[in-house]
Amino acid sequence: MFELIKICKSFGNLRVLKSISIKIKSGIVTGLIGPNGSGKTSLVNIMSGIYPIDSGQILLDGNDISGAKSYQISRLGVFRTFQHIRIFERMTVIENIISAMISHESFSFYGFLAQVRNPEDPKVNIAQNILEIMEMENDSNLFAGDLSLPKRRRLEIARVLARDPKVILFDEPAGGMTPKETESLAHLINKNVAPGRTCLVIEHKMDLIAKVCEELCVINHGEKIAQGDPSVVFNQPEVIEAYLGKV
Ligand SMILES: Nc1ncnc2c1ncn2[C@@H]1O[C@H](COP(=O)(O)OP(=O)(O)OP(=O)(O)O)[C@@H](O)[C@H]1O
Ligand SMILES: [Mg+2]
Repeated sequence: MFELIKICKSFGNLRVLKSISIKIKSGIVTGLIGPNGSGKTSLVNIMSGIYPIDSGQILLDGNDISGAKSYQISRLGVFRTFQHIRIFERMTVIENIISAMISHESFSFYGFLAQVRNPEDPKVNIAQNILEIMEMENDSNLFAGDLSLPKRRRLEIARVLARDPKVILFDEPAGGMTPKETESLAHLINKNVAPGRTCLVIEHKMDLIAKVCEELCVINHGEKIAQGDPSVVFNQPEVIEAYLGKV
């Protein structure tokens, strides 16, 4: 269980998160939705240790990780994807995955090249399995920068899988995708990525949320306005109002 307790975060005078409390259950996919600027990405930045909190507490499986840095949080098995895709455009797909497996502390460029170019290296085998999981097995030698947007987003997830995550925080994984592309990503997440893991998915695309999430949390202006079963939450008046304005 990932527990955010009374989290406050401001940037200068802008209060982005206002004593927000959310419990994210283990082993299921929770959706996080809210209008633009409501604080979703800030919340994920806090959960992944990128931003420090001003006050409040963060617990992971009961352990206080409130002041932990991002490298400490990743050691606990928590990884995330980015709203603006972060991959190495000029590396091949398989190089992108292998580079994610090597910890930053022990990274050596020549060691990396030796591993990537040695088909006997166990990391190459693991990377190929991950490519199969992400249904990208025929793309391993393409440059990441030449991939279509849906495949670039899948590669980012593949890089997360390379780090053996227990918890995955997705920031708009279907951003920029067509409904058909979104549907196939939802299918892939359900079949190959989410099982056995705790996931939080920020998304504006309700078709993805409806297909992958067992639980849904809605925030607005840095406060939680609803959480629970998606079909119930979608119909709550305060959620409809946050999205459509007062009727
Ligand atoms: N590093 C920062 N410095 C200053 N302001 C920031 C910073 N990060 C976020 N903000 C502000 O905090 C507010 C919430 O931003 P955030 O990115 O968390 O929203 P969001 O819910 O992810 O929105 P979107 O749906 O557009 O991605 C916005 O007003 C944003 O401008
Ligand atoms: Mg965002």
